Amino acid sequence: MAYTYEYFKVSADYVREKIGFDPEIGMILGSGCGPLAEQIENPIVIPYEEIPHFLRSTVSTHAGKLICGMLAGKRVVCMSGRFHSYEGYDFEQLTAPIRLFKLLGCRAAVLTNAAGGVNLGYKPGDVMIINDQIKFNGASPLRGPNVEAFGPRFFDVQQMYTPALRQLARECAEGSGLTVHEGCYFFMPGPQFETPAEIRAIRLLGGDAVGMSTVTEALTAAHCGLPCLAFSVITNMAAGILDQPLTDEEVNEVGHVVADRFSAYLKRVIERI
Ligand code: HPA
Repeated sequence: MAYTYEYFKVSADYVREKIGFDPEIGMILGSGCGPLAEQIENPIVIPYEEIPHFLRSTVSTHAGKLICGMLAGKRVVCMSGRFHSYEGYDFEQLTAPIRLFKLLGCRAAVLTNAAGGVNLGYKPGDVMIINDQIKFNGASPLRGPNVEAFGPRFFDVQQMYTPALRQLARECAEGSGLTVHEGCYFFMPGPQFETPAEIRAIRLLGGDAVGMSTVTEALTAAHCGLPCLAFSVITNMAAGILDQPLTDEEVNEVGHVVADRFSAYLKRVIERI
């Protein structure tokens, strides 16, 4: 498959035609962030399978639809449910969501995920503003023929999580009722959770939270010059920290408990972007 500029433009043209407005902010919401998507006003909902050249959600807790409308006074396109390499997608395919946002004219991407706490100062229910990432597993989403129209072959990733947006997110944290940290997201490919030994290694290497998503989106945003802000909701302590098994149920349960507070926080951030 040739992932050309025209290939991605087909998806964007379809969405623009359907929604009839130019979105300002593109959002990708991970597990447990569904309630925020429900607060989008005058929503136009497009199931992923309707969008030509787009991908399909295969995870049952991910809704699999694009919700477009107004949120906190901003025109947004919001992916409720995202794509992961563990679903079998090639890393190159995972550029599609951010390239859609870019082609629709968004001026920022806001990403959320559920993650395991690696930093022993974190606890379930905390939030981490991502300030950097480590991705040693799997290929780059920007591998393969470079699409110059999006960005250069070689590109800088020292500020892929935009400092000014992180500053804004720190300011909004006050009074949110959440404990908001800032730290480094360590990507693991999943779908299995990590081993205790992997988590010890990740901590030594500088990871504060661990998860199976987001890094491909942030890299794609850095490539095409789209400012990016990302949050992890710490849904569990990572493997080996507590004497209990890790389950998807626990991840979703904690996600739901903080969802309302996190949604309110995110809305305040969006309002100010
Ligand atoms: N590891 C990887 N991904 C996750 C975790 C975890 O502990 N929790 C939520 N997503």
